[in-house]
Amino acid sequence: MKSTVFLGGGRITSALVSGLRLAKFSGPIVVHDRHPEKLRILKREHNVIAEPDLHRAVEAARLLIVAVRPDSVRDLLREISTHKRRRPLIGISLAAGMPLPRLRHWLGPPVRWARAMPSPLARRGRGLTALTFSRDLPSGARREVRKLFSLVGSVIELNESQFDTFTVTFSTSHGYHALAGLIAAAEALGLDSGIATLAAAHALADGILAWRGGDDPLDDLIQEAATPGGTAAAVMNAMNRAGYQKIMRAGLRAGVKRARKNTKR
Ligand SMILES: NC(=O)c1ccc[n+]([C@@H]2O[C@H](COP(=O)([O-])OP(=O)(O)OC[C@H]3O[C@@H](n4cnc5c(N)ncnc54)[C@H](OP(=O)(O)O)[C@@H]3O)[C@@H](O)[C@H]2O)c1
Repeated sequence: MKSTVFLGGGRITSALVSGLRLAKFSGPIVVHDRHPEKLRILKREHNVIAEPDLHRAVEAARLLIVAVRPDSVRDLLREISTHKRRRPLIGISLAAGMPLPRLRHWLGPPVRWARAMPSPLARRGRGLTALTFSRDLPSGARREVRKLFSLVGSVIELNESQFDTFTVTFSTSHGYHALAGLIAAAEALGLDSGIATLAAAHALADGILAWRGGDDPLDDLIQEAATPGGTAAAVMNAMNRAGYQKIMRAGLRAGVKRARKNTKR
């Protein structure tokens, strides 16, 4: 039985493997990484097969998931391409900003490519993964890729041209960043740290969760929570005047720019 193989045993591999095991995925999972300690931890905690040899890991693969940082992708794929005994398999790159033509250039047929952008919330089965497929990837292979990621959360398919903007928009870092900022702002005004955390988490998480579970338009909920002339409206207006939207657009633009730098590697 061919395995699901992860090349790179870092943060996102740990999240995905953990989510797959939570979903009772019982198929063989092989992880290759250059740090034996990372392999030992993944083996102990998630019952993966640790494979320190790159070519043996690739040999074992049906799905080959490339989970190294973008600046490591080229050397890794070139190293794989030097190996003689290659057979058809499905390559799935998680590398932010790394386009399909690059992947095909460094490691072409019989490897056929998909890109996936998963969330670390896959660890708890609450992920969201964007997928995009190379034109030469057959429909059966696409189904296999969708099926794997749907075990750890929702899956959507995007045109590759939207991938970078999706990547910088869906990151859970937005929520954590906003939470940390709101807590710090409340503490600076003298609110007890525990109360500030409770209040900020309610503000950011509870309303949005309730909105997702219902069908009220977002605008209506904003109106409901912010009485005209009241405190919440004063806060929102002051934040908008200080450039709230502008800051978000600048943040996303910087992220997209960073992702596009990976295209040039
Ligand atoms: N973290 C996320 O939430 C997330 C979400 C979606 C997509 N991604 C993408 O997933 C990829 C991995 O991200 P990550 O956060 O998991 O990175 P990470 O924690 O740094 O893990 C990557 C691992 O791969 C190892 N590695 C790199 N090149 C290797 C090689 N040639 N042979 C063997 N091992 C090698 C790294 O070792 P060294 O540290 O020595 O290089 C490291 O242990 C990135 O391309 C990122 O864009 C990440």
